[in-house]
Amino acid sequence: MMASVDKWKDVDVYFESKLQSSETIMDSILKANTEAGLPAIDVSPNQGKFLYLLAKMKGAKNILEIGTLGGYSSIWLARALPDDGHLITLEYEAKHAKVAEENIKKAGLEQKIEVMVGAALDLLPTLEEKGYPHFDLIFIDADKPNNPHYLNWALKLSKPGTVIIADNVVRDGQVLDENSEVSSVQGIRQFIDLLAQEERIDSTAIQTVGIKGYDGFVLGVVTDAPLATP
Ligand SMILES: C[S@@+](CC[C@H](N)C(=O)[O-])C[C@H]1O[C@@H](n2cnc3c(N)ncnc32)[C@H](O)[C@@H]1O
Repeated sequence: MMASVDKWKDVDVYFESKLQSSETIMDSILKANTEAGLPAIDVSPNQGKFLYLLAKMKGAKNILEIGTLGGYSSIWLARALPDDGHLITLEYEAKHAKVAEENIKKAGLEQKIEVMVGAALDLLPTLEEKGYPHFDLIFIDADKPNNPHYLNWALKLSKPGTVIIADNVVRDGQVLDENSEVSSVQGIRQFIDLLAQEERIDSTAIQTVGIKGYDGFVLGVVTDAPLATP
């Protein structure tokens, strides 16, 4: 018999209660986001820890995130950084960025995390000019119609071995609908087409269920050095 949506949620909560029982700081960040009226579209606690573990496994020192919201995933990722590590996160909404800054301070990570406010496609071209090194891990989690552009930028700002993750690629299975009129769905489909033809990245997509429903993420690793500047 197929497990119900309620069971997915209960199992997610079970793993969180067992494996993140001491994460009161992360809980307080989600609470602050709710109190500030932010939409509850952060990654789930188990996904947040998964991101943290990926960054740890990679030994990431420089991380780029596109889509900050209240900084929940930024904080998970930054907690995996070494003392001299750095994370830049890009956020369009000034209100979201403000809440994120407060949360980052609460987590004691203001030395490691930089929130840049603006449209990611305006900010991304400035990163290289500002002398940031190519990133070890890039998390794409902003406006999905721009995902194809974000992938191109991620490749420009990466190096061989860079890990690229993109969230929300299943969207309750809507990704299958080639005639979808939802721009996020079309953005994800174009992003997947680009991944399919792009030789500089090896990737897969994993479906997930849990407190955030039925969705999934793309995980890839860059196989070749980026050649051209934008
Ligand atoms: C799904 S939320 C990010 C969640 C966050 N990564 C987490 O898990 O805690 C997407 C965020 O991207 C932001 N966003 C949307 N369009 C953007 C753009 N063009 N440039 C930068 N950020 C954008 C939204 O304001 C929102 O805060």
